[in-house]
Amino acid sequence: VWTMANYIETEVQRIRETVSGGKVLLGLSGGVDSTTVAALLHKAIGEQLICMFIDQGFMRKNEARRVVDLISKYMRINLVHIDASRRFMEKVQGVSDPEEKRKRIGNEFVRTFEEEARKIGDFQFLAQGTLYPDVIESAVAGGTQAKTAAKIKTHHNVGGLPEDMKFKLIEPLRWLFKDEVRKLGRELGLHDDLINRHPFPGPGLAIRIIGKITPERVRVLQEADSIVMAEIKAAGWYNKIWQAPVILLPDVRTVGVMGDARTYGMTCAVRCVTSEDAMTARAAHLPWELLEKISSRIINEVPEITRVCYDISSKPPATIEWE
Ligand code: XMP
Repeated sequence: VWTMANYIETEVQRIRETVSGGKVLLGLSGGVDSTTVAALLHKAIGEQLICMFIDQGFMRKNEARRVVDLISKYMRINLVHIDASRRFMEKVQGVSDPEEKRKRIGNEFVRTFEEEARKIGDFQFLAQGTLYPDVIESAVAGGTQAKTAAKIKTHHNVGGLPEDMKFKLIEPLRWLFKDEVRKLGRELGLHDDLINRHPFPGPGLAIRIIGKITPERVRVLQEADSIVMAEIKAAGWYNKIWQAPVILLPDVRTVGVMGDARTYGMTCAVRCVTSEDAMTARAAHLPWELLEKISSRIINEVPEITRVCYDISSKPPATIEWE
C-alpha cells in the first residue's frame, strides 16, 4: 500500500544509497517544499546535509530571522544564513520594470548561491524541492528527463548554476503534489507554522512595490504587510485563504487629514485571495469589520500610508500579484 510512511522509508533508503558518505547542499527558502526536503534529508543523512538560506532583503518583516529560528530550533540542521540584502538592493534600487526586477533578482540569487556554495566547498550533491507538476511541465515543454535534471531550480527564478560546478541532483519530492508535500512534512514532524505558510514569490516584496524600489518603500510595505498578516491570523482567516499580498502603489499621492493637517501619503492595496492552485483565484470575502480594522491600523501605524484599498478582482483575468 502506498502511504506517506512508506514514501519516507523508500526515499530515506534511496537517499542513503545515493549519497553514501558524501555531502549534500540544499537551498532553503523557508517555504514548505524546501523545508520538507530538509527534514527528509536530515532524517536520512543527518550532519551530511548543509542548508543555505539566502535573505535577499525582500522578505516579510522579521521573516528571515523567524525562518532561521524555526528551522534551527525545531530541526537542528546545519544552516548557513546569508544576509545578502545589501547586494540585492544595489542591483534593484530605482528599477521599476517588473521583468527587469525579476531578472536582476534571479541573477543575483544564482551569483550569491554560487559564491557561497564555493565557500562551502566539498559537496557532491545538490538537493531541491522539485515537485511532480514541475517535472511534468518541463517534460511537456519538450525537455527530456536529462534536461529536467539539468534545470536547477533552487529558486523559482533561478536558471542554472555554472557547468564547472560538479554535483548530482537529489529531488526527493519529484513524485508529489503540493498537498502531498504538506502531508509528508506533517508526517516528518514539521512545525505547523512551516507547513501552512502561504506561497511567497521568490523576488518577494520587490514585485509588490509597483514602480521604483527603494529601501524606504521596502520598509513601508513590510510594516503594512505585517499588520495584514497579524490581523488575518488573529481573526482565523490565514488558513482559509491562499495568499494575502499587500501591494504598494507607485507615487500616486492621495490626500488625507491627520489631526489638523492635510497630508499626502502613499496608497496600498490588500489582496486576499482564495485559490486551489494559483491558476484561478477569487477575492476572499473577508468580514467588513476585519477590513476596516486592517485599514485603520495601517493608516494609524504606518504614517507614510494614507489610503488602503481592497482588491476584489478575480483571476483570470487579473493575476494574483500586481506585476
Ligand atoms: P500570478 O500573479 O501569476 O501568480 O497570478 C501566481 C502564483 O505565482 C506566484 N508568483 C511568483 N512566484 N516568482 C515566484 O517565485 C515570481 O516571479 C512570481 N510571480 C508570481 C504568485 O505569488 C502566485 O502564488
